[in-house]
Amino acid sequence: MKIIAITSSPKGKNSLTLRLVNAALEGAREAGAETEIIDVARKKVNYCKGCVNCYKVGECAQKDEYAGIKEKLLAADGIILSSPNYIDGVTAQLKTLLDRSANFIHEQLMDGKYGVTLTTAGGGGDEKVLAVMNAFINKSGGLVVGSASFLAAQGPQGMDAGIKKAHALGMDMVAAIKEKRHYPEQEAAHKEWRKNFSQSVKYNKENWAHNYQHWVEKGWLKA
Ligand SMILES: Cc1cc2nc3c(=O)[nH]c(=O)nc-3n(C[C@H](O)[C@H](O)[C@H](O)COP(=O)(O)O)c2cc1C
Repeated sequence: MKIIAITSSPKGKNSLTLRLVNAALEGAREAGAETEIIDVARKKVNYCKGCVNCYKVGECAQKDEYAGIKEKLLAADGIILSSPNYIDGVTAQLKTLLDRSANFIHEQLMDGKYGVTLTTAGGGGDEKVLAVMNAFINKSGGLVVGSASFLAAQGPQGMDAGIKKAHALGMDMVAAIKEKRHYPEQEAAHKEWRKNFSQSVKYNKENWAHNYQHWVEKGWLKA
């Protein structure tokens, strides 16, 4: 079982958010998973150009380090997304990765995968950062096992509590993957979203040729 964690703070080893990620991955390893961190702040990932080549042919037209990251995410059973709070949103580095991954949403590429989200903030807004990352996982067809955060304003005690929670989440993510855990509310939302989005895929059949083929193969759309 493979768990990939995406980190996105520009602070590298000095990142506070990395401490939550390390705790979650330690929990995942204790539960038997293999883990890897991909730091998008240290990768060359260009902005999305909105060309919709990915909807058309299933691949991004740009040649940078995105393709390698995508391959690892597709091969993972569980994905941890993390970001510090940057003005009530994720860092530009993570947003760029998520934008480049719009086809994860169009083709529901997190179908059958589980996610955990982690953030730290100075004084608040952590729920907004988690909401962005949770939305990406859910809209891509994945299931969110849980989230953890830590506010600097809470002091070392808050950090300890955040680390403890992240560690437990890492372990629980592995359990969720093993038992193929159901989350009825999230699954109902997937079903509803697919019902609506199938119309867009149908109307854009020619421009989104790869998406259309994928939906037909998955049985989400009748040819
Ligand atoms: C550009 C920038 C924007 C920030 N915006 C917020 C914010 O809106 N709210 C907040 O509570 N903290 C904010 N912070 C503080 C960081 O979220 C906080 O220090 C976080 O723990 C840093 O995580 P890191 O060490 O993993 O990079 C901001 C920090 C920076 C550098």
